[in-house]
Amino acid sequence: LEQGYTVAIDGPAAAGKGTISKAVAAHFGFAHLDTGLLYRAVGRRMLQGEEPVTAAQSLTAEELGQGDLRTAEIAKAASKVAVIPEVRSALVDFQRAFARRVGGAVLDGRDIGTVICRNAEVKLFVTASAEVRAERRYLELAAKGDDVSREQVLADVKERDARDAERSTAPMKPAVDAVLLDTSDLSVDAALARAIEVIEMTLPKA
Ligand code: CDP
Ligand code: CDP
Repeated sequence: LEQGYTVAIDGPAAAGKGTISKAVAAHFGFAHLDTGLLYRAVGRRMLQGEEPVTAAQSLTAEELGQGDLRTAEIAKAASKVAVIPEVRSALVDFQRAFARRVGGAVLDGRDIGTVICRNAEVKLFVTASAEVRAERRYLELAAKGDDVSREQVLADVKERDARDAERSTAPMKPAVDAVLLDTSDLSVDAALARAIEVIEMTLPKA
């Protein structure tokens, strides 16, 4: 593929963005960036006492693979640092450079189709009801041994959704040209099949 073929996948917490993105990347041979990890890494540094803007400006790619960033505490911290405009702007160039990789790229997050890659060839907005998403996230956290309750995970998901949708800089919302994919009643395989179908419609013919 030529440089700059980008798939943008946005949506709320635990909608299945990461699962679909990874599988889509494997299927088409694209590179994948989970942009939530950037905000989570900044959130972790804030929890360690660092000032979030300084943390975002000095973030390294290596950090994204170090330790467990997928905890409930770090998710909450990520959504707090994500409202700060200077944190967001410090992370833009890295994401855009990734999106322009030769061979195609899939990025998932909240503002990929609306801000980071407005010209993405494919935009998907993946959703599911808050109850379904909280149950999915609960099962993931419980499987890792995290000591969380279903009620707490649902409350956390709703709180984070509200903060992400209501912030003034790059709020979470479907791009006007995004394809909506509600996975509430879909298996992973069915959701993936739909995503692949949408992407295939836009792929340059070989
Ligand atoms: O990246 P995001 O937070 O949107 O979600 P994820 O990390 O992909 O987690 C979604 C969880 O729901 C995973 O454990 C999936 O196996 C599960 N799931 C899904 O992603 N899609 C479905 N249609 C059904 C279940
Ligand atoms: O996996 P999950 O959907 O639960 O969260 P995530 O994608 O890892 O994102 C964690 C937090 O980072 C989100 O709640 C947002 O506040 C923020 N985020 C963002 O603002 N913009 C992005 N492109 C990605 C994540």
